[in-house]
Amino acid sequence: MAGLIPQDFIDDLITRADIVEVVGRHIQLKKAGREFKACCPFHDEKTPSFTVSPSKGFYHCFGCGANGTAIGFLMEFNHMSFIDAIETLASSMGMEVPRNESDQPVQRYDELFSLMDSITRHWQSCLKKTPAAIEYLKNRGIDGPTAKRFGIGFAPDGWSNVLDGFGKSKEAEERLLASGLIVRKDNGKYYDRFRDRIIFPIRDTRGRTIGFGGRIMGNDEPKYMNSPETVLFHKGRELYGLYEARQALRHIERLVVVEGYMDTVALARHGIDFAVATLGTATTNDHLNKLFRLTENIYFAFDGDNAGKKAAWRALENALPQIREGRQIRFVFLPNGHDPDSFVNENGTAEFMKLIDSGLPLSEFLIHELSSQVDMTTIDGRAKLAEMASPLIKKLPTGVYRELLIESLAAAVGLTGQKLNMMMATNQKNNNSSQIAEQRRIKNQQEPRASAGLSVVRRAITLILNHPEAGAKLNIEKLVDSKRVGVNLLLALIKATQSEPTITTAGLLERWRHDEQGQHLNKLAAANIPIDEKFNAVAELEECLEQLVLAGRKERIQFLIEKQRFEGLSDDEKSELKRQR
Ligand code: UTP
Ligand code: MN
Repeated sequence: MAGLIPQDFIDDLITRADIVEVVGRHIQLKKAGREFKACCPFHDEKTPSFTVSPSKGFYHCFGCGANGTAIGFLMEFNHMSFIDAIETLASSMGMEVPRNESDQPVQRYDELFSLMDSITRHWQSCLKKTPAAIEYLKNRGIDGPTAKRFGIGFAPDGWSNVLDGFGKSKEAEERLLASGLIVRKDNGKYYDRFRDRIIFPIRDTRGRTIGFGGRIMGNDEPKYMNSPETVLFHKGRELYGLYEARQALRHIERLVVVEGYMDTVALARHGIDFAVATLGTATTNDHLNKLFRLTENIYFAFDGDNAGKKAAWRALENALPQIREGRQIRFVFLPNGHDPDSFVNENGTAEFMKLIDSGLPLSEFLIHELSSQVDMTTIDGRAKLAEMASPLIKKLPTGVYRELLIESLAAAVGLTGQKLNMMMATNQKNNNSSQIAEQRRIKNQQEPRASAGLSVVRRAITLILNHPEAGAKLNIEKLVDSKRVGVNLLLALIKATQSEPTITTAGLLERWRHDEQGQHLNKLAAANIPIDEKFNAVAELEECLEQLVLAGRKERIQFLIEKQRFEGLSDDEKSELKRQR
C-alpha cells in the first residue's frame, strides 16, 4: 500500500520529524551525550538500554533489539498500521497527507477493517440463531461469555450468504475478495469461503478482526478452514488469542503457546487467560519477537506424541537465536492422546497449571534430546553429541547463557566445557568439502558467488546508513556491474543519498520499509562503527568501494583462469582476460 502516499512526502515527513519529541511524548527520555536514553518500552528492564539518536532519526534498544524510525515507533508503541502512523505523525506536525489519486488502490485498510468487523458481528448473530452450533460449543465446554469474549460466530451453510449480503457493488465484491472472504472460480464467478462452520475471528493487537478460522462441526475435511494471506492477515506473524490475553491481564507474566483455536479458547474458559495459538504453523521468528516483547517467560505446550516432539524440536531451533539472560523458555508435553483443550476439560485448571510449571527448561530439553540419540558410554557417542550440539550452540548469541549451556552440556557428557568446545571446533574443520564444491562450480560455469568480501559490503552499507551525508561525494561508476552479493543494495542506497542530499538514516530506512531487505537495514543502522579521531566517513566509504572494485576484478580473473584450465574460454572471455591482466 506504499503507493497510496507519495514517497517524497514520506521522505519529507521523516526528515522534518523530531524523533526525540515523538518518542518523548510517550516515554520519559533522559539526555546522554548526543543521544537520549530510557528504559525500553518494548521489554521489561530496570537499567535503560533504549537509545534515541536525534541525528539519525532512529531509536534502538540494545536489550531486545527493537529499532526503527519515528513512524516505526508509532506503529510499534500504539500498534498502528503504517498508514495510521503516517497520519498521526503528519497531523502532530500540522502537515496534511497528500494522496496519489492515480494509483489509488481499490481497497483502503480502514474499509477492509470495517468490512471484517461487520462480518464478525453478522456471524455472531447467526450463531445466536443456530441451536445446533450453540449445542456444539456447549458440548465442547464453551459457554456463552467465553464465546462472546472471543467473538465466536457461525457461518451458515450456502455458497453466497456473504456474497449476497456484503458484495452488492463491484467495489464491495473486490473488498470481499481482498479480505479472503470469497473465492474466485475459473469462470470469474465467486463463492463464499466459509460455509457451515463455527467461526473464530483472528484479531490484531488492537482487537480488529484480520482473518478467520472456521471449524466444521462434523467429521468432514478439512477440519479447519482459514483465511488466506491477505493485506491484513499474515499467518506466520499472528498469534490467536493475544489480543484477548492482553485484554484480560494487566500484567502478562507468562504466555503459553498452544497449537489450536480450541486450545486457546478452552484454556481461557478455565481461567487460563495467557494461552495463544500459532494456528497450525511452526513458531516463527516473528512470533517469538511478538511474545518476548510482552513477557520473558514463554511456555510451549505440545502433544505428547512423536509429532509433538518434532514440533517442539523445531520450536527449540527457532528460539535459540532469541535466548538471552532473563528469558525463560520451557517445553511442556501433554500426556499421550491429549491436547491442552482435552486435558483441561478432563483434569481442570489446577492440573494444567501443575503441568506447565513442571515444563522442561530449554537447556534440559536440548540436552535430554541430544543425549538420548547417542551412546554416551562410548567416546564415539560423545563425539557425535558434540557434533550435533555444535550448530545449535552456534545459533545462540554469545554471552553468559551460551557459556552456561556449554557447561551443562559438557557436564552431561562428563567432559569439561573447554574440552567440549575443542571437540565442537574440530568438528567444524572436518566438514570441509568446499574444495569439491569449488571445482563443481567452475565446471558448471557459474559466476563467482562472492561470499568472501561480504563484510566489506556490509561495512559500506553500515557506513552509508549512518552517514548519508557522505554519499554525495562518492563515485560509483566502477561498481555498477559488480555481481557481488549486496552491491546492488549498496548502490541503491548511495543513489538515494545523491538524489536526496538531506536524507537521514531514518529517511533511508523508510524508503526500504516495504522491501525484503528493510529488516536487515534496520539492524545495520543500529550497528556502531568504531570511530577514531581521524574518522572520515567519505574516506572510509571510498576505501570500501575501492576494495570492492579490486576484489571483483581479482575474482573475475581467477574465475577466467580456472575456467581456462578446466574447459577453455570463449573468444570474448579470452580478450577480457588479456585486458584485465
Ligand atoms: P488440530 O488438528 O490439533 O486441531 O490442529 P485442534 O485444535 O485440536 O482442533 P479440535 O480440537 O479438533 O477442534 C491444530 C490447529 O491446526 C490448524 C488449526 O489452526 C488448528 O487449531 N489446522 C488444523 C488447520 O488450519 N486446518 C486443519 O484442517 C487442521
Ligand atoms: Mn483439540
